[in-house]
Amino acid sequence: DEMKVFAPATVANLSCGFDVLGCCLDTVGDEMKISKNDLGQVRITKITGQDLPMEADNNVAGVAVKALLKDLKSGQGFDIEIDKRIKPGSGIGSSAASSAGAVFAVNRLLGEPYTSKELISFAMQGEFLASGNAHADNVAPALLGGFSLVRSYCPLEVLSLPVPSELRMVVLHPLIEIKTRDSRSIIKQNISLKSAINQWGNLGALVSALYTEDYDLLGRSLKDEIVEPVRSILIPYFNELDKLSKKNGALGFGISGSGPSVFALCRGDENAENVKAAIQDYYSKKEINFELHLSGIN
Ligand code: HSE
Repeated sequence: DEMKVFAPATVANLSCGFDVLGCCLDTVGDEMKISKNDLGQVRITKITGQDLPMEADNNVAGVAVKALLKDLKSGQGFDIEIDKRIKPGSGIGSSAASSAGAVFAVNRLLGEPYTSKELISFAMQGEFLASGNAHADNVAPALLGGFSLVRSYCPLEVLSLPVPSELRMVVLHPLIEIKTRDSRSIIKQNISLKSAINQWGNLGALVSALYTEDYDLLGRSLKDEIVEPVRSILIPYFNELDKLSKKNGALGFGISGSGPSVFALCRGDENAENVKAAIQDYYSKKEINFELHLSGIN
């Protein structure tokens, strides 16, 4: 009646897919332990690594689990322990990892009344608590793995997309905090038809590139002229990092979720190591502390 899970970090948006596209990192994430209790209560019993709310109603994992239990009309209680390794406000789906990991484990411990896809809407309640918006582009890939596309929010329809085997992700996290809530508030609410045409052309091409394993097309489609130009102002040396990554052979470069993390999508381990080393070298000379990850997508 107890389960340990790896709750993965995720990269949302992937430039052209604001709020509809995300992918799951296979080596960066939290550890969680979920166990049944006889108290009929959802409790956050331990959090290590970060200072986060312990009250279930103020914790994204607690809120997501409660949404699941309410839907199931279950009175079962659960204790949730979180070893938080993904820093909140990093832009790699910190809140999504906790929400998704918690509902995944609880569903297992209850004998899997829901499919992984059905769990997405419960995990989205955690995202709503964290950012005031129930986006699915982090929780969906955290639950389903690989790439996820949100075809529609209402009704919710999420598709899994294939992962070309040589894809690697280098993620730089400058240690400044940008809250998703704040970086959503600066985005324009209206866009021009011209921008929309460019954006859906790129998103369609990106999906095609995943199916055909066309790495060059994938690189050409990783563009965003709607959200990234506004948000990138908050990220120190964004344009320099973009140029540097591409000079070192990255397929594409962009903001991870709402930032401040940025990602460089690479082909193969050698290319990813080179890009990582170049970023490491460049950012070490700046005044900002940072973390750097290299991960597969799975
Ligand atoms: N799509 C969301 C946003 C992801 O960009 O605000 C947040 O991680």
